[in-house]
Amino acid sequence: MPATDNVMDKLVSLAKRRGFVFQSSEIYGGLGSVWDYGPLGVELKKNIKERWWRSMVHDREDIEGLDAAILMHPKVWEASGHVSGFTDPLVDCKQCKNRFRADDPRIKGTPGEPTAQCPVCGSKGTLTAPRMFNLMFKTFMGPVEEAAALVYLRPETAQGIYVNYLNVLQSSRQKIPFGIAQIGKAFRNEITPGNFIFRTREFEQMEMQFFVKPGTDSEWLEFWRGERMKWLVGLGVRAEKLRFHQHTKDELAHYAKDAYDVQYEFPFGWQEFEGIHNRTNFDLSRHQEFSGKKLEYLDVATNERFIPYVVETSAGADRTTLVVMVDAYHEDEVEGEKRVVLRLHPALAPLKAAVFPLVNKDGMPELARRIFDDLRKYYNTFYDDGGSIGRRYRRQDEAGTPFGITIDGQSTQDGSVTVRDRDTLKQDRVAADRLVTYLAENLKG
Ligand code: GAP
Repeated sequence: MPATDNVMDKLVSLAKRRGFVFQSSEIYGGLGSVWDYGPLGVELKKNIKERWWRSMVHDREDIEGLDAAILMHPKVWEASGHVSGFTDPLVDCKQCKNRFRADDPRIKGTPGEPTAQCPVCGSKGTLTAPRMFNLMFKTFMGPVEEAAALVYLRPETAQGIYVNYLNVLQSSRQKIPFGIAQIGKAFRNEITPGNFIFRTREFEQMEMQFFVKPGTDSEWLEFWRGERMKWLVGLGVRAEKLRFHQHTKDELAHYAKDAYDVQYEFPFGWQEFEGIHNRTNFDLSRHQEFSGKKLEYLDVATNERFIPYVVETSAGADRTTLVVMVDAYHEDEVEGEKRVVLRLHPALAPLKAAVFPLVNKDGMPELARRIFDDLRKYYNTFYDDGGSIGRRYRRQDEAGTPFGITIDGQSTQDGSVTVRDRDTLKQDRVAADRLVTYLAENLKG
């Protein structure tokens, strides 16, 4: 691995060069901490989301899927505690007009006091006392911009699940314990976004709320901790780069009784990219109170009524994408030449194979095209006839494509092609009509 301090710079540059991630509105100078996924990035993130959906919804009988709207009744956010509690303390510098989080480590002294110094302009006594700033984005519904028309862009997808809990329970005929899973956008007006797609103002969450009988919640929290770690390791993420961090009392969110962060060792340190939370019956109780609608569960076997407890697994799709990219990033040397390679798990790789005619003559392009057209019916495949074969391999190494298929002189004679493995660099000679089977066998995992 290269020196850790510039891995992020290299990854951001690779992401742009190969079409994984671009800065939003780049031709206008960009929009702060908002990013767009390019042709390869959209495939990578989609593959991660699909794998998550499969493991949560399709592989399990006790979890149902949902796709709730981003805009919700404003009372949802009063009930959830986000209107009053989803805030960060901020201070302003009256001199240079910069704004900081009150706990910004660069601030010397206590904001609001005459000795405190602005970390940007250096003035003393110009920082205001901390004020609370709500992180929810606001907009207006309908033509009139007035308080009554105020709505929020959801800061978490979870609330869409809670308000649909009864609808899903009744329509799916599930019984407790059961879960509801959802993937969707969330928005937070973060004060200190950064580190590429790590902390942004618009992001995607993959959240699952598991409704359980009170008293069984701690057991289920343990169960989901184990499941989530298995899933992550199954994506090919190195286990030694993953760890849990249990929240201390001070760190717990307003709704949580117990919580674990799943952390990854990024080049900028150990950081959370998923949370597993025991949310008790906080959210459902509050929605019952604010909506006036009964959200109790009747256990037919015991005739008991209760408001279920919720164990939540909350992953960021963008942060998981960053974990996968950072973990896959490698530099090595092939035949004395440096190369960058993304060792992506084959199931996540945006492209599964690339097809190259060795030269653009002697029947090779025609045969290569035929092979490409066959393969793309089964796998996302790329055709490249530009530049030396070495350069074409390098481009696909950077894209994380597991296999490079070269059509050479021998191919036009006996119908065999070479298949180069991205990681081992081993080349196999394979009959073209066996390629689909060959890829099926070798892309497993
Ligand atoms: N429903 C619980 C919840 O939202 P959270 O710890 O605030 O919990 C869960 O967020 C996950 O969402 C985080 O682990 C992270 O992956 C992702 N996330 C949160 N804020 C984010 C941001 N500003 N940018 C990118 N991802 C973010």
